[in-house]
Amino acid sequence: MAENIFKHEGTKVQQYDALLTQIQALLSGESDVVANMANVAAALKTQFDWHWVGFYRVVGEELVLGPFQGPVACTRIAYGRGVCGSAWAHNQTLIVPDVEAFPGHIACSALSRSEIVVPMFNKGKMLGVLDVDATERDAFDATDQAGLEAIVQLLMEGDWQSD
Ligand code: SME
Repeated sequence: MAENIFKHEGTKVQQYDALLTQIQALLSGESDVVANMANVAAALKTQFDWHWVGFYRVVGEELVLGPFQGPVACTRIAYGRGVCGSAWAHNQTLIVPDVEAFPGHIACSALSRSEIVVPMFNKGKMLGVLDVDATERDAFDATDQAGLEAIVQLLMEGDWQSD
């Protein structure tokens, strides 16, 4: 694995491209998905310095908090609740430019203003979500969606152990 993660310069597309290559190296040789989620959260936090970045895993009918970087967060989110539970229910990435305008948004941190949630699928099974919060409104766009979906895809190549 790559021992050092450093911040990349350039456009956001270039930053994601460089990060993707680095995450590929970081994950190589390690098949444990929890270990890999932990390193991916750290790599994303290092690159983009978002307020909160981390994972929730599907356990039964709930999402349960997984590896993350940032302030302490809600531990359990029901199916269909909040942005995370909605992304699960709709099986798609959700970009929320203003969390205050999203009905049912779960405010784990009062500082969060916008959010993106990317579902994680493996062989058609929903396994969890990658959740990112920013302190600015409208922080996420299609470039973030493509970059984060590509990173999640890499993660899903490891062995996944859910409930
Ligand atoms: N805001 C999320 C809850 C998780 S935290 O942001 C870490 C939601 O509405 O699902």
